Amino acid sequence: LEKMDLPPRSKLFDFHGVSMIPCFTDNWENYQNFQARPDDILIATYPKAGTTWVSYILDLLYFRESLEDRLTTIPIYERVPFLEICIPGKDLVDNLTTSPRLIKTHLPVQFVPKSFWEQNCRIVYMARNAKDNMVSFFHFDRMNKVEPDPGEWSSFFQRFLDGKMVFGSWYDHVNNWWKKKESYSNLHYMFFEDLVENTGHEIEKLCSFLGLSPSAEEVERLSSSVQFDNMKKDKMANYSTAPVMDFKISPFMRKGKVGDWKNHFTVAQNEAFDEDYKKKMTDPTLQFRTEV
Ligand code: A3P
Repeated sequence: LEKMDLPPRSKLFDFHGVSMIPCFTDNWENYQNFQARPDDILIATYPKAGTTWVSYILDLLYFRESLEDRLTTIPIYERVPFLEICIPGKDLVDNLTTSPRLIKTHLPVQFVPKSFWEQNCRIVYMARNAKDNMVSFFHFDRMNKVEPDPGEWSSFFQRFLDGKMVFGSWYDHVNNWWKKKESYSNLHYMFFEDLVENTGHEIEKLCSFLGLSPSAEEVERLSSSVQFDNMKKDKMANYSTAPVMDFKISPFMRKGKVGDWKNHFTVAQNEAFDEDYKKKMTDPTLQFRTEV
């Protein structure tokens, strides 16, 4: 797609109880029949929870030494392609030639193709606190011209609480993936806030899940490569090569902070949010931090 001939913004519709847009359901049959391999790694997130960050970390972990060209010539969204996206003529996932294959998805857990479960693939789920996730999503929908029009902040805020977002309700997404850990052990659930607070430690935990044992120096080097400022500068990671995004409105690598919601939420919104949150987030074992 060229910037010139963008289709109109998508409209949300109900898809098996989840708000979606056609570009993530048009390929449904195709991706439901996806044949996973046992060493595939699925990176699962609600949109704007730090997908690109985890993708980048995993990609460097596996390929920095062996495939150096990859890092300088292939954008991250091709290195770690998006399972459910429908771009006619571009089957990025099927064309992956690396091992392991790193695959990204935003699907709610009940929509994940069954082959991933049957093959017992490793799955890395990254979650981000709802308030910052909402703010990031708002700015993303402003600048990404295939997303539904976000409208004013106050109406976007309400839509988020109502779960009328692309890929559905944040609350359902994080809760249902969390519950999945009880029946599926090859799932590593991590938090954006932890990764901001202590990148090295989170990378070590991730490596232990993946069965990798990098040296302390390697972990150190990796944590510094994946800091926000470095990724923002990296043309292959910052989405500057993606056609549908208008960085004049808002860059993809926007702030990368915990707590930016404080610059957006009014006092009244914050109270309404917290009230509603308590009703929806009833599992005491799943706790998010809205500041670090
Ligand atoms: P903000 O909009 O709050 O800045 P996703 O990759 O799921 O679309 O998530 C994008 C969000 O992750 C953006 O949040 C982006 O800035 C943030 N992000 C990406 N890389 C990051 C990094 N290295 N450190 C901190 N945040 C990062």
